[in-house]
Amino acid sequence: MSMAAIAKGLTTYVVPPRWLNRSDGRTHAARYCYSVYMRHLLHLHAVDADTNPHTIAEIGPGASIGTGLAGLIAGAKRYHGFDIKAYGSSPQNLAVFDDLVSLFKSRAAIPGTDEFTNIKPAIETTDFPRHILTDERLAQALADDRLARLRAALTPEGIAASDAPISYVAPWFEDAQLSRGSVDWIFSQAVMEHVDDLEATYAACRAWLAPGKAMSHQIDFKSHGTASTWNGHWAYSDSTWRMVRGARGYLINRAPHSRHRAAMAAAGFDILEDFRVTRSDGLGRARLAAPYRDLAEDDLTTAGAFIVARAPA
Ligand SMILES: C[S@@+](CC[C@H](N)C(=O)[O-])C[C@H]1O[C@@H](n2cnc3c(N)ncnc32)[C@H](O)[C@@H]1O
Repeated sequence: MSMAAIAKGLTTYVVPPRWLNRSDGRTHAARYCYSVYMRHLLHLHAVDADTNPHTIAEIGPGASIGTGLAGLIAGAKRYHGFDIKAYGSSPQNLAVFDDLVSLFKSRAAIPGTDEFTNIKPAIETTDFPRHILTDERLAQALADDRLARLRAALTPEGIAASDAPISYVAPWFEDAQLSRGSVDWIFSQAVMEHVDDLEATYAACRAWLAPGKAMSHQIDFKSHGTASTWNGHWAYSDSTWRMVRGARGYLINRAPHSRHRAAMAAAGFDILEDFRVTRSDGLGRARLAAPYRDLAEDDLTTAGAFIVARAPA
């Protein structure tokens, strides 16, 4: 348990709300977005999921919608971003877009963990995936007029257009945001560990996805600075945890790996891949708070997971 984390939580009640939840991830950098997109793409390919989706949606894009922009540049026609807080700006997105276009045009290798510490999911090779993003596919996707249309959609006027290929909603909370079965791929990176209502969010994903289409989520179960050990967030009682969270709009939900799997199954998903990162250090079971001390051994050692799940055909 960290007194500093509790003190930090308590100060959130006395600072202006705009100072809270200012951590917006790593999507400022086009190379990070490119790396995340490519990692999801390679894993989707490995399980025979759709790697050339028409409509894509992202939960929690953070600083920019760059990972979704990578998906659009690679061929998708529509993108929907849903965050709890509006972080992105038009100039930021335009800068990321331009850098992404250069990366795709040069078939750049996938940036690795030497550049972005701990980036996940792991991949076998950082080579540009020419077997998925073939020259034929990219000749169409990177056509000048297509890229110009996408870029125009990122300007304030473009975003406001009624037929815009890009939509961004923050905050979002209702499952009525998109029509049923209208999305071909949903993804998130370092987000689902923050989402308070996991069950409702996976149910919304299930409603939005077209039959047979997949979602992919990289989830980090670690303590996110709330404790000195990776699993120390499970040592707080619920009442102390409320102090750690304070007035923040989100922190981490403390849900272990199995709860994500259960919520996905309850929403009707079939899990195609569940690529876990395990750790054996951290606090022992006896030092955790109830109910965490009763976690299954798998949950107790799962520090991260990349899960691909499919809506039934
Ligand atoms: C650690 S950042 C990750 C951002 C980005 N995906 C990345 O890879 O850098 C977590 C993101 O999750 C978002 N978030 C938290 N709770 C959310 C919710 N219930 N729905 C959608 N986004 C949420 C935050 O606003 C933030 O943008």
